[in-house]
Amino acid sequence: MNAPEEKACRLRAQGLTCAAVAVPLRKPSEPSATRASPLVRRAVPADLAALVELENASFSGDRLSLRQWRHHLDNPGAWILVAAQDGHAAGAAVVFFRSGSRVARLYSIAVAASLRGRGLGAELLESVERIARRRHCDRLRLEVRADNPQAQRLYERHGYQRIAHIEGYYEDGADAWRYEKRLA
Ligand SMILES: CC(C)(COP(=O)(O)OP(=O)(O)OC[C@H]1O[C@@H](n2cnc3c(N)ncnc32)[C@H](O)[C@@H]1OP(=O)(O)O)[C@@H](O)C(=O)NCCC(=O)NCCS
Repeated sequence: MNAPEEKACRLRAQGLTCAAVAVPLRKPSEPSATRASPLVRRAVPADLAALVELENASFSGDRLSLRQWRHHLDNPGAWILVAAQDGHAAGAAVVFFRSGSRVARLYSIAVAASLRGRGLGAELLESVERIARRRHCDRLRLEVRADNPQAQRLYERHGYQRIAHIEGYYEDGADAWRYEKRLA
């Protein structure tokens, strides 16, 4: 079976083994200043259990295993971001970078069901974009299930455009839309 990054975004967040690094959230003048402001930071090993729990609660297939999460924490070509609220991992995103490529791949994004609709997904997505820009990427790509209009709306609201339809992309045979955003 392909490694998750090869299969690319389900769509569906690398962590350092060092201390957490907070990703600056948007400036107070920007629209989402009224949203709940979680601390979006890079994941650390102590987040592993919460990441697996979030994964299992958010996706019925194509899930990352504990072993894969651990691998990505140590993978220099990946970032795992955690949106922490009250100290807990309320959401997470996984983005992959490939050396020599300016295209970053958003592999996964998920928010705990009880906390959806409060802007956490948007905060994570915007943090991923900031990291990709910092790593000199000029595009961000992702795949999303064709039957997931809520996630598609989140991406479209953030300027992502459909660039391909992929039949049978997911484990259960569901189709995917590939989306892309120019970051420059
Ligand atoms: C997709 C997902 C990450 C979005 O996270 P989120 O924190 O709900 O995102 P936001 O709050 O920024 O935006 C969600 C939208 O739903 C609306 N919404 C309102 N109440 C909501 C609720 N109870 N639940 C979900 N969305 C709600 C929000 O207002 C917003 O609408 P808009 O796009 O018209 O502005 C989240 O729904 C999720 O984890 N889904 C399951 C996993 C998944 O499908 N991931 C994407 C894989 S491609």
